[in-house]
Amino acid sequence: MSQTTAAHVVHVTGARPNFPKAAPVIKALAAHGIRQVLVHTGQHYDPVMSEVFFQQLGLPEPDVNLGVGSGTHAHQTAKVMMALEDMFVADPPALVVVYGDVNSTVAATLVAAKLHIPVAHVEAGLRSFDRTMPEEVNRVVTDSLADLLFTTSPDANVHLGHEGIAAEKIHFVGNPMIDTLLSNLDAFDADAAREQLSIEGPYLVATLHRPANVDDPATAASIVKALHAAADTTRVVIPLHPRGRASFASAGLMDHSGVTVIEPLGYVEFIGLVRGSLAVVTDSGGVQEETTMLGIPCLTLRPNTERPVTITHGTNQLVTVDNLVDRLQPIVDGQGSGDGTTPPLWDGHAGERIGTVVAAYLRR
Ligand code: UD1
Ligand code: UDP
Repeated sequence: MSQTTAAHVVHVTGARPNFPKAAPVIKALAAHGIRQVLVHTGQHYDPVMSEVFFQQLGLPEPDVNLGVGSGTHAHQTAKVMMALEDMFVADPPALVVVYGDVNSTVAATLVAAKLHIPVAHVEAGLRSFDRTMPEEVNRVVTDSLADLLFTTSPDANVHLGHEGIAAEKIHFVGNPMIDTLLSNLDAFDADAAREQLSIEGPYLVATLHRPANVDDPATAASIVKALHAAADTTRVVIPLHPRGRASFASAGLMDHSGVTVIEPLGYVEFIGLVRGSLAVVTDSGGVQEETTMLGIPCLTLRPNTERPVTITHGTNQLVTVDNLVDRLQPIVDGQGSGDGTTPPLWDGHAGERIGTVVAAYLRR
């Protein structure tokens, strides 16, 4: 990417879901001739959680990797803040762009706001109204400090309005993660995924990583029980996020012949796998959105979602460990695929809309 100049934009990324959101925004800003610097905080660092996205999504090499790694919330957030403060003081950007709801996002926002550097938040305004989720805290803080708020669904605009954010700061642009999905559609090969994993017949995909699902051994055990019950009738393929490795292994996740546990997959391989599946069981934010676009039934193992548009305009439903198998049955029987409805402005052009707004903002 371009090196720093007097006026440049810094993108702060760091965790897996940031990368598919940032790719179309970086591309759009480049088309406007805006000088950009890409920071990777190092929050995620395993090649399958990070590097593979840069290779597959055509993202430029990060200009800087802060290498913060894992840690408690305070440690991880503080490490990002200290490194970014040094960087922003040495060479202040004209705008900092942050993505989603991860610790790297809130850390960058806090630093920029205190240095009077404007912040653009991509995927603003989503609310689960569940403050026990670390992401909800990150969303509320980031949105309260951002100068440009790019929303992916109309409900987000409503939430921001209720929180007193001025309407002129809010831009409903659609979903850049869906830009990435749509622009890679031809690459998602369900047959290749099936072949690579030697899967025969129908299968489910499960991805689980929320602290509320994986951190507590008893909860993890109840989820394993539900997944085993599902696997009694349909193979369950689980590209396991590192966060749940220990708790799910202790709960005996692999002790069922119908369960296939694998490492996290690259983006292209993962969506290929999802595309050929009967349904997905997940607690991921991004996967709720991607299944909605692909018309694949999505069962979200959470009491709430900050993405209700995937229920009203998509294939998503909230489930519990107690009703998971019952909710799967009609899908196994051939019902429950999408009806082709998709959320407004999820049309592959969100990045371009963001580029237009940012270019106009920088000209002011
Ligand atoms: C983070 C985000 C979450 C997002 C998720 C996407 C926060 C608070 N959470 O959760 O919103 O949905 O990323 O995947 O920012 N680990 C590895 N290798 C890695 C990264 C992590 O082994 O490359 C392990 C470490 O044991 C680490 C644990 O996963 O302690 C959790 O990583 P962390 O980045 O703190 O949070 P996530 O659960 O990944
Ligand atoms: N993903 C992937 N490989 C996997 C699991 C997920 O490429 O094995 C992708 C997924 O398609 C989505 C992104 O990672 O685009 C979302 O990341 P995650 O579920 O970790 O985070 P969340 O969206 O919940 O914050």
